[in-house]
Amino acid sequence: MTTARSTPNIAFIKYWGNRNDGLRLPMAPSLSMTLDRPTVEITVEEADAFAVRSFLVDGSEKTLKEKDTDRFRKVLSLMQRYIATLNAAAGIRESQLQENVSITVRSHIPPAIGLASSAAVFSCLAKAIAGFIQDKKKLTNTQASVLARLGSGSAARSIFGGFSTLEEGNGMELGSSWSVQIADEHHWLLHDIVIIPAMEEKKVGSTEGHALASTSPFYVERVRSIRTHRQRECIEAIRNKDFEALQCVTEEDCLDMHHVMETSTPPLHYLNDETRRIVNAIKELRTKQHIPVLFTMDAGPTVHLVCPEEGKNAVLSFAHAQKGCTIFETKVGPGAILLA
Ligand code: PMV
Repeated sequence: MTTARSTPNIAFIKYWGNRNDGLRLPMAPSLSMTLDRPTVEITVEEADAFAVRSFLVDGSEKTLKEKDTDRFRKVLSLMQRYIATLNAAAGIRESQLQENVSITVRSHIPPAIGLASSAAVFSCLAKAIAGFIQDKKKLTNTQASVLARLGSGSAARSIFGGFSTLEEGNGMELGSSWSVQIADEHHWLLHDIVIIPAMEEKKVGSTEGHALASTSPFYVERVRSIRTHRQRECIEAIRNKDFEALQCVTEEDCLDMHHVMETSTPPLHYLNDETRRIVNAIKELRTKQHIPVLFTMDAGPTVHLVCPEEGKNAVLSFAHAQKGCTIFETKVGPGAILLA
């Protein structure tokens, strides 16, 4: 029996679109900061039959939909296939991970908060599976990031603490794309003050969304920009702790991703009027008071305000002044860990 803990991440260069949807092989590289909370814990143990159980913040059991259980089963089957390519098959029974494990998920992520729970869940599952097989095959964190990617592309980045990329990689193999740490969680203290304007579930999940990316006439240019300069600019900004450079490239990339989403067929509108109002208000505050802060949004209306320590108090009071919004405070964190 093994238990792991992990957390979501917030992307500065967004992952949107795959070259292979089934294997979640990304079309372009991406980059994020791993957060220190909220946490997810997953226990993997041997069992007579495959089972997944999920518990909420208050300890009550969440009834899983068939499609959720199926996703776990499919991901475990891909994980098993990848592990087999590492010459570990001898020690691990064929289809053991699909048929003879029980998985218990304990999530501290408030539902529909707009924080990527799939990134936390699948990085956690990957770390727990790595722990579960470690007597037979010890996986590196890079290999664990491949396992995580098979569940959710962005999950690969939460394996590492601090700041990490999801590399585009080459080829169409299960292991053709993985995560790389740029700097650990002690490198740069950045906070993420999360403003949640609406607590409604998003309509189109990212798995379906990725498949639409290439229908936007602006997608080719997006991929080209990330490959040729944006990803590099973002890495340099982080290495040099250059907040202004990080702000420019992150906001440019976020708005570009939403432009692609809104111009795909069918169009995906994740931002709402409240999101736009908050973004305009923070831009105004930044100009007037010279506060170091950047905004970014994933596949939902939630606004992430990322700032260094010196901007924190001003950003927090701004956030708490937004009527009808839920506020969640988090910061750079250590990534997925094995607990037992
Ligand atoms: O990992 P997925 O398939 O849930 O995709 C995540 C997509 C975004 O959150 C919109 C961007 C990102 O890089 O996290």
